[in-house]
Amino acid sequence: MNCPQILVFFLLTCSAILFKLYYPQEQGGSIIVVEKNVGLNYGLLGDNLPSPSKVISFYKSIGITKIRIFDPNTEVLNALRGNTNISVIVGVKDQDLAALAAREEAVKDWFAINIEPYLADVNITTITVGNEVIPGPIGPHVLPVVQSLTNLVKSRNLPILISTVVDMSNVQPSYPPSAGMFTPQAREQLVPVLKFLSQMNTPIFVTIYPYFALVSNPDHVSLDYAIFENKYPVFEDGLMKYTHIFDASFDAFVWAMEKEGVIDLPMVVAETGWPSAGGKVKFTNPHLAGTYNRNFVKHVESGKGTPKRPNSSIDGYLFATFNENQKPAVDCPQILVFFLLTCSTILLNNYYKKDGSIIVVEKNVVLNYGILGNNLPSQSNDISFYKSIGVTKIRIFDPNTEVLNALRGIPNISVTVGVKKQDLAALASYDAAKNWVATNIEPYLADVNIMSIIVGNEVIVEIL
Ligand SMILES: *[C@@H]1O[C@H](CO)[C@@H](O)[C@H](O)[C@H]1NC(C)=O
Ligand SMILES: *[C@@H]1O[C@H](CO)[C@@H](O)[C@H](O)[C@H]1NC(C)=O
Ligand SMILES: *[C@@H]1O[C@H](CO)[C@@H](O)[C@H](O)[C@H]1NC(C)=O
Ligand SMILES: *[C@@H]1O[C@H](CO)[C@@H](O)[C@H](O)[C@H]1NC(C)=O
Repeated sequence: MNCPQILVFFLLTCSAILFKLYYPQEQGGSIIVVEKNVGLNYGLLGDNLPSPSKVISFYKSIGITKIRIFDPNTEVLNALRGNTNISVIVGVKDQDLAALAAREEAVKDWFAINIEPYLADVNITTITVGNEVIPGPIGPHVLPVVQSLTNLVKSRNLPILISTVVDMSNVQPSYPPSAGMFTPQAREQLVPVLKFLSQMNTPIFVTIYPYFALVSNPDHVSLDYAIFENKYPVFEDGLMKYTHIFDASFDAFVWAMEKEGVIDLPMVVAETGWPSAGGKVKFTNPHLAGTYNRNFVKHVESGKGTPKRPNSSIDGYLFATFNENQKPAVDCPQILVFFLLTCSTILLNNYYKKDGSIIVVEKNVVLNYGILGNNLPSQSNDISFYKSIGVTKIRIFDPNTEVLNALRGIPNISVTVGVKKQDLAALASYDAAKNWVATNIEPYLADVNIMSIIVGNEVIVEIL
């Protein structure tokens, strides 16, 4: 999605529900199973982002196995070394396409510089040539670069797929799905690419945002239909019944491909998500964004596929991990903020057991440290206690100055800080959020290991 984003303040994302966690407390609480079908987009257009190595550690800690990056960022790729459990889609930058299309040698050089150095220990599964550049002035460069890169990886026998990412604007009309047809410009630029991908049996990557379908047609599209909250079909298209707009969009693209003779080409959802702020504010808030994202994950997990492609598991990537603050504000009608779900550090790949009065601490435990009591030891005693039993992560429910001061100079203990629920409404603007961070977080950054901020209880996390 090429829209700019206002930095709302929180970045991250991931959800207890995004990952299928089994936390059988009645059995002592220990087993966590992580859902593997959903990936995350990881954009880097911000000076407000945590370092790539922190981000990759975070992904690992919550069991993320698939990510997409928009260009071959060396820091990210280096941070991924040895983490072959995380597969990565690497984008070729749009502005590189013209030069790469002009000379096969340029493609070889690009590969040698950007991909080759990582092949041994980074699991690069896909290279996408351009991001939503079809249709457009550089759209015609996609096919030659896809072809050159395909030749290159085939000649080297490398298991890397070469494809491109396109958006739904190529399909017009798209309702009902069986009427799905590519626009004339798409037929010129996209169909030859699809035919080539079809020969190679390589998926096309498509971005699908039901939010845009909703706001462009609010009289005919219901919110529930857009955010997967509908329980019953909204319309029938021949024998196919549609309950979710996501499915209708997906299938419209499939129908459009079929009309061009491109049958059974796999489709991956390169991006989907819901804005948490900006745009039509009636429809953008963290609650709706969370609902959409959770329901998307459930939909993927259900394995139901779409009416046109039933029983086939959807492969998809949520957008996005961070609210990058330097996305270019070009040609974008609305300023939107996407965030990905919620995740609570206590539900990450961690567990602890309580055995009578003895806390048995596992390596990665997070302890919740609530201080709503006048019967508690002083904060510095508590912190000493935590150190003595080897706790390395704690979570506090608000930026308590005594606790944060007690944590000064103890980098071994990382802290997740909560924002008080009653402060949330006032923090909805960027400036208010910035002030909050300046007052509550910045004074401690030098010597307290603040790892994340949870906005609300289990709502949003920011890694600093
Ligand atoms: C990779 O995944 C396997 C199987 O899920 C697991 O046993 C292994 O520990 C993981 N390795 C890393 C480095 O995460
Ligand atoms: C790389 O990722 C793919 C796709 O997720 C996975 O099937 C494969 O096992 C991974 N490779 C390694 C070496 O872990
Ligand atoms: C999909 O799965 C359902 C339930 O298992 C089954 O009834 C149906 O025939 C399947 N549809 C296709 C097209 O395979
Ligand atoms: C903190 O970490 C250092 C280096 O890893 C280690 O030597 C030290 O024992 C740790 N201290 C505590 C209190 O865990």
